[in-house]
Amino acid sequence: MSLREEFPIFKSKTYINSCSYGALSYDVRAAYEQYLNDRDEHGSHWEHWVEMLEDMRGRVASLLNADIDEMALTSSLSEGLNALASSLTYTPERNKIVITDYDFPTTAQIWFAQEKRGANVVQVAEDKEQKLLPLSGFEKEIDDSTLLVSIPYVCYRNGSTQDLEPIIKLARKHGALVFVDCYQAVGAIPVDVKALDVDFIAGGMLKYLLSTAGTGYLYVRDSLIQKLQPTTSGWFSQRDIHAMDHTKNDPSPTARRFESGTPNVANVYAAIAGLKIVEGLGVANIQTEVSEIISAIKTRALENDFKLGIDQKRHSPMVTLQSNDMYGLVTKLGEDNIVTSCRDGNLRVSPHFYNNMDDVDRLFESLNKNRGLMV
Ligand SMILES: Cc1ncc(COP(=O)(O)O)c(C=O)c1O
Repeated sequence: MSLREEFPIFKSKTYINSCSYGALSYDVRAAYEQYLNDRDEHGSHWEHWVEMLEDMRGRVASLLNADIDEMALTSSLSEGLNALASSLTYTPERNKIVITDYDFPTTAQIWFAQEKRGANVVQVAEDKEQKLLPLSGFEKEIDDSTLLVSIPYVCYRNGSTQDLEPIIKLARKHGALVFVDCYQAVGAIPVDVKALDVDFIAGGMLKYLLSTAGTGYLYVRDSLIQKLQPTTSGWFSQRDIHAMDHTKNDPSPTARRFESGTPNVANVYAAIAGLKIVEGLGVANIQTEVSEIISAIKTRALENDFKLGIDQKRHSPMVTLQSNDMYGLVTKLGEDNIVTSCRDGNLRVSPHFYNNMDDVDRLFESLNKNRGLMV
Protein backbone atom coordinates (compact mmCIF):
# COMPACT_ATOMS: atom_id res chain seq x y z
CA MET A 1 0.00 0.00 0.00
CA SER A 2 1.41 3.41 -0.92
CA LEU A 3 1.44 6.05 1.78
CA ARG A 4 -1.35 8.01 0.10
CA GLU A 5 -3.57 4.96 0.41
CA GLU A 6 -3.10 5.15 4.18
CA PHE A 7 -5.39 8.21 4.07
CA PRO A 8 -8.90 7.05 3.11
CA ILE A 9 -10.18 10.53 2.29
CA PHE A 10 -8.35 10.28 -1.05
CA LYS A 11 -10.80 7.56 -2.13
CA SER A 12 -13.47 10.22 -2.50
CA LYS A 13 -11.79 13.64 -2.31
CA THR A 14 -8.89 15.65 -3.57
CA TYR A 15 -7.80 16.89 -0.17
CA ILE A 16 -5.37 19.85 -0.30
CA ASN A 17 -6.15 21.53 2.98
CA SER A 18 -3.45 20.53 5.47
CA CYS A 19 -3.08 24.14 6.69
CA SER A 20 -6.52 23.67 8.18
CA TYR A 21 -6.41 20.01 9.27
CA GLY A 22 -4.12 17.18 8.18
CA ALA A 23 -5.81 14.21 6.48
CA LEU A 24 -6.82 11.34 8.79
CA SER A 25 -4.74 8.19 8.39
CA TYR A 26 -5.68 4.63 9.24
CA ASP A 27 -2.88 4.72 11.84
CA VAL A 28 -4.35 7.69 13.69
CA ARG A 29 -7.80 6.10 13.58
CA ALA A 30 -6.29 2.85 14.95
CA ALA A 31 -4.58 4.83 17.72
CA TYR A 32 -7.97 6.11 18.91
CA GLU A 33 -9.30 2.55 18.79
CA GLN A 34 -6.31 1.38 20.80
CA TYR A 35 -7.15 3.97 23.47
CA LEU A 36 -10.69 2.64 23.72
CA ASN A 37 -9.45 -0.97 23.76
CA ASP A 38 -7.00 -0.10 26.55
CA ARG A 39 -9.84 1.40 28.53
CA ASP A 40 -11.94 -1.71 28.01
CA GLU A 41 -9.04 -3.87 29.09
CA HIS A 42 -7.55 -1.85 31.95
CA GLY A 43 -10.16 0.67 33.03
CA SER A 44 -7.69 3.27 34.14
CA HIS A 45 -4.16 2.81 32.86
CA TRP A 46 -2.39 5.88 34.23
CA GLU A 47 1.15 4.53 34.42
CA HIS A 48 1.04 3.63 30.76
CA TRP A 49 -0.60 6.93 29.84
CA VAL A 50 2.09 8.94 31.61
CA GLU A 51 4.71 6.90 29.73
CA MET A 52 2.91 7.72 26.50
CA LEU A 53 2.85 11.41 27.38
CA GLU A 54 6.62 11.30 27.87
CA ASP A 55 6.99 9.38 24.60
CA MET A 56 5.08 12.14 22.81
CA ARG A 57 7.14 14.81 24.57
CA GLY A 58 10.37 13.14 23.41
CA ARG A 59 9.15 12.87 19.83
CA VAL A 60 8.10 16.53 19.64
CA ALA A 61 11.44 17.52 21.20
CA SER A 62 13.39 15.50 18.60
CA LEU A 63 11.39 16.99 15.77
CA LEU A 64 12.34 20.49 16.92
CA ASN A 65 15.90 19.62 18.01
CA ALA A 66 14.95 20.57 21.56
CA ASP A 67 15.71 18.82 24.82
CA ILE A 68 12.80 16.83 26.28
CA ASP A 69 12.84 19.04 29.40
CA GLU A 70 12.33 22.12 27.23
CA MET A 71 8.92 20.88 26.05
CA ALA A 72 5.52 21.51 27.61
CA LEU A 73 2.58 19.57 26.16
CA THR A 74 -0.61 21.60 26.10
CA SER A 75 -4.19 21.38 24.89
CA SER A 76 -3.63 24.16 22.34
CA LEU A 77 -1.06 26.71 21.24
CA SER A 78 -3.14 29.26 23.13
CA GLU A 79 -2.83 27.38 26.42
CA GLY A 80 0.97 27.31 26.17
CA LEU A 81 1.20 30.95 25.14
CA ASN A 82 -1.14 32.09 27.92
CA ALA A 83 1.08 30.31 30.46
CA LEU A 84 4.20 31.84 28.92
CA ALA A 85 2.73 35.37 28.81
CA SER A 86 1.71 35.02 32.46
CA SER A 87 5.31 34.23 33.43
CA LEU A 88 6.80 37.46 32.04
CA THR A 89 7.38 40.56 34.14
CA TYR A 90 6.29 43.78 32.45
CA THR A 91 8.27 46.70 33.95
CA PRO A 92 7.95 50.33 32.81
CA GLU A 93 11.52 50.07 31.41
CA ARG A 94 10.86 46.84 29.49
CA ASN A 95 7.24 46.19 28.68
CA LYS A 96 6.97 46.35 24.89
CA ILE A 97 5.59 43.31 23.07
CA VAL A 98 6.14 43.55 19.31
CA ILE A 99 3.56 41.53 17.37
CA THR A 100 2.62 41.65 13.68
CA ASP A 101 -0.22 42.14 11.21
CA TYR A 102 0.27 38.49 10.23
CA ASP A 103 -0.41 37.07 13.70
CA PHE A 104 -3.09 34.44 14.02
CA PRO A 105 -5.82 36.16 16.11
CA THR A 106 -5.12 34.01 19.17
CA THR A 107 -1.50 35.14 19.58
CA ALA A 108 -2.41 38.81 19.15
CA GLN A 109 -5.34 38.48 21.56
CA ILE A 110 -3.20 36.79 24.22
CA TRP A 111 -0.57 39.55 24.02
CA PHE A 112 -3.22 42.31 24.14
CA ALA A 113 -4.65 40.59 27.23
CA GLN A 114 -1.30 41.30 28.95
CA GLU A 115 -1.90 45.06 28.70
CA LYS A 116 -3.78 44.69 31.98
CA ARG A 117 -0.49 43.53 33.51
CA GLY A 118 1.55 46.42 32.10
CA ALA A 119 2.43 45.24 28.60
CA ASN A 120 2.64 47.77 25.77
CA VAL A 121 1.64 45.90 22.60
CA VAL A 122 2.67 47.30 19.20
CA GLN A 123 2.01 45.74 15.83
CA VAL A 124 4.38 45.64 12.83
CA ALA A 125 2.23 46.57 9.82
CA GLU A 126 2.06 44.66 6.55
CA ASP A 127 3.54 46.36 3.50
CA LYS A 128 0.27 46.18 1.57
CA GLU A 129 1.92 46.79 -1.79
CA GLN A 130 4.50 44.02 -1.48
CA LYS A 131 2.33 41.87 0.80
CA LEU A 132 4.98 41.15 3.39
CA LEU A 133 6.12 42.19 6.84
CA PRO A 134 9.03 44.54 6.09
CA LEU A 135 12.21 44.26 8.17
CA SER A 136 12.04 48.06 8.48
CA GLY A 137 8.81 47.61 10.47
CA PHE A 138 10.65 45.48 13.02
CA GLU A 139 13.59 47.94 13.01
CA LYS A 140 11.17 50.74 13.84
CA GLU A 141 9.48 48.92 16.72
CA ILE A 142 12.21 46.82 18.38
CA ASP A 143 14.17 48.89 20.90
CA ASP A 144 15.65 48.63 24.41
CA SER A 145 12.17 48.65 25.97
CA THR A 146 11.18 45.53 24.02
CA LEU A 147 10.52 42.58 26.28
CA LEU A 148 9.50 40.15 23.55
CA VAL A 149 9.00 39.88 19.80
CA SER A 150 6.21 37.52 18.69
CA ILE A 151 6.33 36.37 15.06
CA PRO A 152 4.36 33.83 13.04
CA TYR A 153 6.75 31.69 10.94
CA VAL A 154 4.15 31.14 8.20
CA CYS A 155 1.18 33.50 7.88
CA TYR A 156 -2.11 31.56 8.06
CA ARG A 157 -3.81 34.07 5.72
CA ASN A 158 -1.49 34.18 2.73
CA GLY A 159 1.26 31.58 3.27
CA SER A 160 4.04 34.15 3.62
CA THR A 161 7.09 32.59 5.29
CA GLN A 162 9.01 34.97 7.47
CA ASP A 163 12.80 35.28 7.23
CA LEU A 164 13.33 34.96 10.98
CA GLU A 165 17.10 35.39 11.18
CA PRO A 166 17.40 39.19 10.85
CA ILE A 167 14.47 39.76 13.21
CA ILE A 168 15.93 37.43 15.85
CA LYS A 169 19.33 39.17 15.51
CA LEU A 170 17.66 42.53 15.98
CA ALA A 171 15.77 41.31 19.04
CA ARG A 172 19.01 39.94 20.53
CA LYS A 173 20.78 43.26 19.93
CA HIS A 174 18.16 44.94 22.13
CA GLY A 175 18.02 42.18 24.76
CA ALA A 176 14.49 41.12 23.76
CA LEU A 177 13.05 37.60 23.90
CA VAL A 178 11.61 35.92 20.79
CA PHE A 179 8.48 33.79 20.45
CA VAL A 180 7.68 32.14 17.12
CA ASP A 181 4.26 30.71 16.25
CA CYS A 182 5.24 27.65 14.21
CA TYR A 183 1.81 26.13 13.80
CA GLN A 184 1.73 26.50 10.00
CA ALA A 185 5.28 25.20 9.59
CA VAL A 186 6.19 22.23 11.80
CA GLY A 187 5.85 18.91 9.97
CA ALA A 188 6.09 20.48 6.51
CA ILE A 189 9.30 22.49 6.84
CA PRO A 190 12.22 21.79 9.18
CA VAL A 191 12.16 23.84 12.39
CA ASP A 192 15.28 23.64 14.55
CA VAL A 193 15.06 25.68 17.73
CA LYS A 194 18.84 25.67 18.23
CA ALA A 195 19.64 26.76 14.67
CA LEU A 196 17.00 29.49 14.87
CA ASP A 197 18.31 30.64 18.26
CA VAL A 198 14.76 31.27 19.38
CA ASP A 199 13.53 31.42 23.00
CA PHE A 200 10.02 30.03 22.64
CA ILE A 201 8.01 28.34 19.97
CA ALA A 202 4.52 26.87 20.04
CA GLY A 203 2.26 24.91 17.75
CA GLY A 204 -0.14 22.02 17.66
CA MET A 205 -0.71 18.58 16.22
CA LEU A 206 -3.66 18.89 13.89
CA LYS A 207 -2.16 20.29 10.69
CA TYR A 208 1.10 19.03 9.16
CA LEU A 209 1.66 16.73 12.16
CA LEU A 210 -1.35 14.75 11.01
CA SER A 211 -3.22 13.99 14.20
CA THR A 212 -5.74 15.93 16.15
CA ALA A 213 -7.26 19.11 17.52
CA GLY A 214 -6.88 19.57 21.27
CA THR A 215 -3.13 18.93 21.57
CA GLY A 216 -0.28 21.41 21.34
CA TYR A 217 3.20 22.12 22.58
CA LEU A 218 5.36 24.94 23.88
CA TYR A 219 9.15 24.98 23.67
CA VAL A 220 10.98 27.07 26.28
CA ARG A 221 14.74 27.56 26.05
CA ASP A 222 16.45 25.68 28.85
CA SER A 223 18.27 28.67 30.36
CA LEU A 224 14.97 30.60 30.75
CA ILE A 225 12.79 27.95 32.38
CA GLN A 226 13.85 28.53 36.00
CA LYS A 227 13.56 32.30 35.59
CA LEU A 228 9.96 32.15 34.41
CA GLN A 229 7.18 31.17 36.78
CA PRO A 230 3.73 31.15 35.19
CA THR A 231 0.73 32.29 37.23
CA THR A 232 -1.17 29.46 35.58
CA SER A 233 -0.64 26.15 37.34
CA GLY A 234 -2.09 22.72 38.09
CA TRP A 235 -1.02 19.32 39.30
CA PHE A 236 0.62 18.33 36.02
CA SER A 237 2.86 21.40 36.24
CA GLN A 238 4.33 20.48 39.64
CA ARG A 239 7.84 19.28 40.45
CA ASP A 240 6.32 16.01 41.70
CA ILE A 241 2.85 15.16 40.41
CA HIS A 242 2.60 12.38 42.96
CA ALA A 243 3.21 14.73 45.93
CA MET A 244 -0.49 15.70 45.85
CA ASP A 245 0.41 18.72 47.99
CA HIS A 246 -2.48 21.16 48.27
CA THR A 247 -0.54 23.52 50.58
CA LYS A 248 1.71 25.16 47.98
CA ASN A 249 2.53 25.64 44.31
CA ASP A 250 5.85 23.96 43.51
CA PRO A 251 6.48 24.31 39.75
CA SER A 252 8.50 21.71 37.89
CA PRO A 253 12.12 22.69 37.13
CA THR A 254 11.40 21.71 33.51
CA ALA A 255 9.06 23.21 30.91
CA ARG A 256 6.30 21.08 32.45
CA ARG A 257 5.75 24.12 34.69
CA PHE A 258 3.83 25.60 31.72
CA GLU A 259 1.33 22.72 31.76
CA SER A 260 -1.76 22.52 33.97
CA GLY A 261 -4.27 19.68 34.39
CA THR A 262 -5.05 16.16 33.16
CA PRO A 263 -3.90 15.76 29.56
CA ASN A 264 -6.24 14.57 26.82
CA VAL A 265 -5.07 10.96 26.83
CA ALA A 266 -6.90 9.86 23.67
CA ASN A 267 -5.22 12.70 21.81
CA VAL A 268 -1.80 11.55 23.01
CA TYR A 269 -2.37 8.17 21.31
CA ALA A 270 -3.36 9.98 18.12
CA ALA A 271 -0.50 12.48 18.32
CA ILE A 272 2.11 9.71 18.60
CA ALA A 273 0.61 7.92 15.57
CA GLY A 274 0.77 11.15 13.51
CA LEU A 275 4.30 11.92 14.66
CA LYS A 276 5.47 8.43 13.67
CA ILE A 277 4.32 9.00 10.08
CA VAL A 278 6.20 12.31 9.89
CA GLU A 279 9.30 10.77 11.50
CA GLY A 280 9.18 7.83 9.07
CA LEU A 281 9.34 10.17 6.10
CA GLY A 282 11.59 12.85 7.59
CA VAL A 283 10.61 16.52 7.47
CA ALA A 284 13.37 17.40 4.99
CA ASN A 285 11.97 14.82 2.52
CA ILE A 286 8.45 16.10 3.10
CA GLN A 287 9.64 19.64 2.41
CA THR A 288 11.17 18.51 -0.90
CA GLU A 289 7.96 16.77 -1.98
CA VAL A 290 5.74 19.64 -0.89
CA SER A 291 7.88 22.26 -2.64
CA GLU A 292 7.63 20.36 -5.92
CA ILE A 293 3.84 20.43 -5.68
CA ILE A 294 3.82 24.07 -4.59
CA SER A 295 6.08 24.99 -7.54
CA ALA A 296 3.74 23.18 -9.93
CA ILE A 297 0.72 25.02 -8.51
CA LYS A 298 2.47 28.39 -8.83
CA THR A 299 3.56 27.70 -12.40
CA ARG A 300 0.09 26.54 -13.42
CA ALA A 301 -1.51 29.55 -11.68
CA LEU A 302 0.63 31.97 -13.68
CA GLU A 303 0.10 30.03 -16.94
CA ASN A 304 -3.65 30.31 -16.35
CA ASP A 305 -3.47 34.05 -15.56
CA PHE A 306 -4.54 33.60 -11.94
CA LYS A 307 -3.04 35.93 -9.33
CA LEU A 308 -1.02 34.52 -6.44
CA GLY A 309 -1.89 35.79 -2.97
CA ILE A 310 1.69 36.92 -2.37
CA ASP A 311 5.02 37.20 -4.18
CA GLN A 312 5.70 33.65 -5.26
CA LYS A 313 9.22 33.31 -3.83
CA ARG A 314 7.89 33.27 -0.29
CA HIS A 315 5.22 30.57 -0.52
CA SER A 316 5.76 27.63 1.77
CA PRO A 317 4.12 25.24 2.63
CA MET A 318 0.86 26.95 1.63
CA VAL A 319 0.14 28.66 -1.68
CA THR A 320 -2.64 31.21 -2.04
CA LEU A 321 -4.59 32.36 -5.09
CA GLN A 322 -6.64 35.55 -5.17
CA SER A 323 -10.39 35.20 -5.53
CA ASN A 324 -13.22 37.73 -5.85
CA ASP A 325 -15.53 35.38 -3.91
CA MET A 326 -13.42 33.11 -1.75
CA TYR A 327 -16.30 31.31 -0.03
CA GLY A 328 -18.07 30.78 -3.36
CA LEU A 329 -14.86 29.38 -4.83
CA VAL A 330 -14.27 26.96 -1.94
CA THR A 331 -17.89 25.77 -2.37
CA LYS A 332 -17.51 25.30 -6.13
CA LEU A 333 -14.26 23.36 -5.67
CA GLY A 334 -16.05 21.31 -3.02
CA GLU A 335 -18.71 20.40 -5.60
CA ASP A 336 -15.87 18.85 -7.60
CA ASN A 337 -14.74 17.01 -4.43
CA ILE A 338 -11.72 19.26 -3.95
CA VAL A 339 -11.21 20.34 -0.35
CA THR A 340 -9.47 23.70 0.20
CA SER A 341 -10.05 26.69 2.47
CA CYS A 342 -9.84 30.47 2.32
CA ARG A 343 -8.89 33.60 4.24
CA ASP A 344 -8.58 37.26 3.47
CA GLY A 345 -9.63 37.08 -0.20
CA ASN A 346 -7.30 34.15 -0.86
CA LEU A 347 -7.92 30.53 -1.72
CA ARG A 348 -5.53 28.52 0.45
CA VAL A 349 -4.05 25.41 -1.16
CA SER A 350 -1.88 23.50 1.27
CA PRO A 351 -0.41 20.20 0.07
CA HIS A 352 1.35 17.61 2.18
CA PHE A 353 3.45 14.60 1.12
CA TYR A 354 0.25 12.67 0.31
CA ASN A 355 -0.69 15.00 -2.53
CA ASN A 356 0.46 14.46 -6.10
CA MET A 357 0.40 16.04 -9.55
CA ASP A 358 -2.99 14.45 -10.32
CA ASP A 359 -4.38 16.55 -7.48
CA VAL A 360 -2.86 19.63 -9.12
CA ASP A 361 -4.48 18.69 -12.46
CA ARG A 362 -7.89 18.26 -10.83
CA LEU A 363 -7.51 21.55 -8.96
CA PHE A 364 -6.74 23.51 -12.13
CA GLU A 365 -9.50 21.82 -14.10
CA SER A 366 -11.96 23.02 -11.49
CA LEU A 367 -10.37 26.47 -11.13
CA ASN A 368 -10.62 26.95 -14.88
CA LYS A 369 -14.28 25.94 -14.80
CA ASN A 370 -14.76 28.61 -12.14
CA ARG A 371 -12.54 31.33 -13.64
CA GLY A 372 -15.26 33.90 -12.94
CA LEU A 373 -14.48 33.59 -9.22
CA MET A 374 -10.73 34.24 -9.71
CA VAL A 375 -9.08 37.66 -9.71
C1 LIG B 1 -0.64 30.10 12.84
C2 LIG B 1 -1.64 29.62 13.86
N1 LIG B 1 -1.47 29.93 15.15
C3 LIG B 1 -2.35 29.53 16.09
C4 LIG B 1 -3.45 28.78 15.74
C5 LIG B 1 -4.46 28.40 16.81
O1 LIG B 1 -3.90 27.63 17.79
P1 LIG B 1 -4.75 26.98 18.99
O2 LIG B 1 -6.18 26.91 18.56
O3 LIG B 1 -4.14 25.63 19.18
O4 LIG B 1 -4.57 27.85 20.16
C6 LIG B 1 -3.66 28.42 14.42
C7 LIG B 1 -4.83 27.60 14.05
O5 LIG B 1 -5.17 27.41 12.91
C8 LIG B 1 -2.73 28.85 13.44
O6 LIG B 1 -2.89 28.56 12.15
